[in-house]
Amino acid sequence: ETTVQEELMAAIRTIPDYPKEGIIFRDITTLLGNARAFRRAVDALVQPWAGSKVDQIAGIEARGFILGGAVAHQLSAGFVPIRKKGKLPHETVRIAYSLEYGIDEMEMHKDAITPGDKVIVVDDLIATGGTAEAACKLLQSMGADIVAACFIVDLPDLGGRSKLEALGVPVRTLVSFPGH
Ligand code: PRP
Ligand code: MG
Repeated sequence: ETTVQEELMAAIRTIPDYPKEGIIFRDITTLLGNARAFRRAVDALVQPWAGSKVDQIAGIEARGFILGGAVAHQLSAGFVPIRKKGKLPHETVRIAYSLEYGIDEMEMHKDAITPGDKVIVVDDLIATGGTAEAACKLLQSMGADIVAACFIVDLPDLGGRSKLEALGVPVRTLVSFPGH
C-alpha cells in the first residue's frame, strides 16, 4: 500500500519550462482526474477537522474552487468564493496582491462571513504565499477566525508558509516539492 503522500506525488504531473523557461510547473489536473487520488487528497486535507465544527470553507479562484467545494461538502460547511475582481454581483470587500508580474485584486462578498465564523482557506498550491496571504487578510478583516489554510502542494523554497503563520494562520500541506 502506498502512502497518501507517495500516491499524490505520483498523481501530480510535472511540466518543465512552463509557463516559461526555468519554471517547473506542478499540474494537479492529473490528480483531479484520478478518482482515487482526488478522494485521498480531499480526505487527507480535512482529516484534522473531521467531526469538528467549521462554518465556512473559503476557496481561492480558480483552482481552490475545485478542492474547496469538495472540502466543504466533506465537513458539512458552507463555501465562500474568493474571486478575482469584478465577478461578484453584490457588495464586496477587495484587496490588492502581488503576482510575479504586477498586481491584481481579489474580492469577496461583504456578507459572506459572520464575525467569529471558523473558516478554512483552501487552494491547490502555495508558492510565494502572496495569494493566500491576501485571502486571509480579507477574511480576517471581516472577522473570520481562520483555523487553517490547506493546500495539496507546498513549494517550500518560496517561503509562503511563514507569510500565513505571521497572520496567526496554521498551514497544512500534503506534498512538498523543493526547488523553484
Ligand atoms: C496559482 C495557484 C495559487 C497561486 C499560488 O494560481 O493556484 O492560487 O498561484 O501562488 P503564490 O503562493 O505565489 O501566490 P494562479 O494565480 O495561477 O491562478 P488560477 O488558480 O486561477 O489558475
Ligand atoms: Mg490559483
